[in-house]
Amino acid sequence: MNINQNYLNLEESYLFSTINKKIAAFANANPEVDIIRLGIGDVTLPLPGSVIKSFHEAVDEMAHSRTFHGYGPEQGYGFLRKAITSYYAQREIGVEESEIFVSDGSKCDVANILDIFGQDNLVLLPNPVYPVYLDTNKMIGRDVAFIHANRENGFLPQPDKNRQADLIYLCSPNNPTGAAYTKEELRKWVEYANCQDAVILFDAAYESFVSDPNMPRSIYEITGARTCAIEFNSFSKMAGFTGTRLGYTVIPQQLVRQGTSLHKLWMRRQTTKFNGVSYMTQRAGAAVFTREGQKEIQENLDYYRENAKIIASKLDQLGIWYTGGKHSPYIWMETPAQMDSWDFFDFLLEKTGIVGTPGIGFGDNGQGFFRLTAFGDRSKTSQAMDRLDRAWREFII
Ligand code: MLT
Repeated sequence: MNINQNYLNLEESYLFSTINKKIAAFANANPEVDIIRLGIGDVTLPLPGSVIKSFHEAVDEMAHSRTFHGYGPEQGYGFLRKAITSYYAQREIGVEESEIFVSDGSKCDVANILDIFGQDNLVLLPNPVYPVYLDTNKMIGRDVAFIHANRENGFLPQPDKNRQADLIYLCSPNNPTGAAYTKEELRKWVEYANCQDAVILFDAAYESFVSDPNMPRSIYEITGARTCAIEFNSFSKMAGFTGTRLGYTVIPQQLVRQGTSLHKLWMRRQTTKFNGVSYMTQRAGAAVFTREGQKEIQENLDYYRENAKIIASKLDQLGIWYTGGKHSPYIWMETPAQMDSWDFFDFLLEKTGIVGTPGIGFGDNGQGFFRLTAFGDRSKTSQAMDRLDRAWREFII
């Protein structure tokens, strides 16, 4: 037998597993240190009350033969897909129920989507990038090309008309940098993709953090996107579903390549390899879009937005360059004193007990940068910034 040799070309472990190992070793050696985790983008607030209520009701339904649910509809229950189309319609974006595929999260979809594309496609990935996009291409032995995001372009690279591409990954507001494209900037990507006959894989997992109505939250706000873009979204960051698992992917009916509907291919893939998300989880997800659910999730998002402000204002005070924190739960800061990303990770952990994510873990262009998340507890976030202030004044300035 042969193993998939491509796996041997991956980093030995996934970024966040490596970080967890380092934290565990530090905690073991320093049991007295109160570690504050601003590393992985995991939410800390519990699920909203209306979501919990729907969950409970759905569990009770499963207890009676009259209301019991077995396998669900292939693309997700109609009630959830309808709620998602209304969510788009509130922003005057026309997405049909039939174009939505409910899933257990956008990480899986963004990885699995590669099944419907041929091996020899030219893939463009921003650098730095969410590691899943890169690793899933490496796993199938595909080389990728990078578009450089850096301080000069505000970590928002623009398309180069002279460069060829078949698949383009975009995430806005971005993970890891927190930078967000304007409509005009996204329009250039859509134009470029249509011109190249390429497909944009648009990760909108952080769209709910956009508070400016002039900023785009979906690629479909851009004219022409329906013929060149697939959109992924998740309930994780929007509604605290990181441990509950729910997301969806939109593939417009007009999205055709080589005379074949990509919608049809994804349907074929999903019906073979996926059996849907539990009825209870989909009912809980539908509650997110009710009036009460929307109010509750906005309160939670505001809580995280305030954390982002606390972090950003400390960085402003200390004169540290950063992106994000405005339409995003991520703050992407420059490391001080020319420390590399991992040196700064160690420095911060040892001197302050704060955990962040080294920028280099997201690609070469992340060297010398560091990501903090606003998903933490409020008092811990404030405490972390006090500790950062002290360490900065003692060791850096
Ligand atoms: C992150 O910290 O980058 C995210 O939590 C990863 C994810 O959403 O899978």
